[in-house]
Amino acid sequence: MAEKITSTSKDGERIAPSSEFKKQATISSLAEYKRLYSESVNAPEKFWNTQAKELLKWRKPWRKTLEWKEPHAKWFVGGKLNVCENCVDRHLGTPRENKAALIFEGETGDQKTLTYKQLHVEVCKFANVLTGLGVKKGDRIAIYMPMNCEAVVAMLASARIGAVHTVIFGGFSSESIKDRVNDCQAKVIVTADGGWRRGSVVELKKNVDDAVKGCPSITNVVVVKHIGHRVSMKVGRDVWYHTLMNDASHKHAAKAFDSETPLFVLYTSGSTGKPKGVLHTSGGYLLGTTMTSKYVFDLKETDTYWCTADIGWITGHSYVTYGILSNGATNVIYEGAPNYPEVDRFWDIVERHRVTIFYTAPTAIRAFMKWGDEPIKKHDLSSLRLLGTVGEPINPEAWRWYYKTIGGERCPIVDTWWQTETGGIMITTLPGAAPSKPGSAGLPFFGVVPKVFDDAGNEVKKGENGKLVLTTPWPSMLRTLYGDNKRYKKVYWSEYKGVYFCGDGCKQDKDGYFWIIGRIDDVLNVSGHRIGTAEVESALVSHPSVAEAAVVGRPHDIKGNAIVCFVTLKQGLEGTDELRRELRDHVGHEIGAHSKPDEIRFAAALPKTRSGKIMRRLLKDIAVGKEIKQDTTTLEDLSVVKQLQAQD
Ligand code: WT7
Repeated sequence: MAEKITSTSKDGERIAPSSEFKKQATISSLAEYKRLYSESVNAPEKFWNTQAKELLKWRKPWRKTLEWKEPHAKWFVGGKLNVCENCVDRHLGTPRENKAALIFEGETGDQKTLTYKQLHVEVCKFANVLTGLGVKKGDRIAIYMPMNCEAVVAMLASARIGAVHTVIFGGFSSESIKDRVNDCQAKVIVTADGGWRRGSVVELKKNVDDAVKGCPSITNVVVVKHIGHRVSMKVGRDVWYHTLMNDASHKHAAKAFDSETPLFVLYTSGSTGKPKGVLHTSGGYLLGTTMTSKYVFDLKETDTYWCTADIGWITGHSYVTYGILSNGATNVIYEGAPNYPEVDRFWDIVERHRVTIFYTAPTAIRAFMKWGDEPIKKHDLSSLRLLGTVGEPINPEAWRWYYKTIGGERCPIVDTWWQTETGGIMITTLPGAAPSKPGSAGLPFFGVVPKVFDDAGNEVKKGENGKLVLTTPWPSMLRTLYGDNKRYKKVYWSEYKGVYFCGDGCKQDKDGYFWIIGRIDDVLNVSGHRIGTAEVESALVSHPSVAEAAVVGRPHDIKGNAIVCFVTLKQGLEGTDELRRELRDHVGHEIGAHSKPDEIRFAAALPKTRSGKIMRRLLKDIAVGKEIKQDTTTLEDLSVVKQLQAQD
């Protein structure tokens, strides 16, 4: 059994791994973590050299470990590798070749397993398909897919030929697809005839059709028959995946690519209306994700690992596809919702597949808590040996529930702090080495030197709140924002000189543990998804009835943040419930269903300072129904506030 909770006070509560877990852990003591950590920060190049040699297969050794011309990093300069070969071919000819690489379960219960050998065949074929469609090294391909094996195959095949994928989450609207495809000028888009979400069809192909009308760079749409749904196929442009695959050779020699070859662009929200195309490259990214998977999840090739994230997010890139397959583990992927057909769907999957490692988001954990313990007790979860969380700070109550009810007080929990930009996990407690403190992400991973700064760029004292920065380059860091190096510099490297600013508030306690407070920019975290308030605002003002909009977050029990919108309408229009519904749907249409506002309030004007700035802090207070105590002397028109409050 695990050692008992030693204290109940928030900061003092520590939960140490059990001796059983420690015995088998890859890193099994605090001393070992500390030794490796100090090596990693005192002689980083030596440390990364050793790790890169040990964990990855290189075709040509690098001549320089790191070339750092702030804020631009090149890792393993001159080295050559093939990312796909590292994730797939490397396991052939080993005892892993005929074990399951992917175990897919669809929402309707259909199942498919691909062994590493079978995955290799699929990936080789699809690499040939892409080449046949004219995709060359450096070309971008978009992937707009449900969670299924073909989505992973498409990513790996893209990597195999040195193309650059951009995965677009299946919940995004056609408008969002269009923006992303046009930004990176993708040549081919891989999609499916549809997907399932809580028993309804997600019209993936139709969304692509609508988007592609405005995407001149797209030459072909490849369509996977996933649910057998009727779709229209445009002759000359649209091609069925299965037809192409039938004709493709399963032989494909993977070329070696330079370590800094772009691997993917993943769009994420920022504080302006336009999403940022985060660019990751090959060697450093693969090392970061492989290494964190191995040490943070204590991942072994005997594990059956399941991360519930969609491949449309960074978690699905780093910890569904790359880091997990490069370690040769068995990877469960599930298409659907956690509560379909019943709220025990996840636990049914864990039980049937004997999942050993389970990685999910706090928002899901809070939903499970709400659904009660009964659906969980129906299932045997004894196969689990480690749990993880990601995406937002986990409240200690949810942490304890996860630990007890899902992990049976047996499984360590790794709370992993990282970002789309960091590529891999940056802060966590290594499960066999350090005790967890519920609510704290923990200690820095190897090579990571986080600090907490005040506004002037001085380190704050332990225990004080400030802004989290990363002070040294790391292999899996983003290289730039696609096509917008200026924005890259501005967003991440201009808040403070010479350090990476991540946009989170944070404090570090006396034991060195980091406690993430949340975003301090205009970005909301809704159900673990990053949503820019500016994006929702610009979606709202694109509606013909809207004159102006301001969007803020309000704490929400399950989702972390709820989206609250303050809207002024064009002259003469009235704010009705019908218009509210229409605006919600409009945002869903412009961005995607996950961005639909929770609440819309109408006002004759928005509260602004005399210089014309919207007073967001005031709106936040109004959104939570707080008494307005802040100074409103700069406010232009106080009656506006009364009007907005009246809608509480
Ligand atoms: C933001 C990054 C990393 C994959 C999922 C989200 C928040 C992430 C944690 C955590 C507290 C967390 C931060 C971060 N976040 N993990 N363990 N504890 N906050 O990726 O969309 O790039 O969002 O998510 O605010 O900046 P993302």
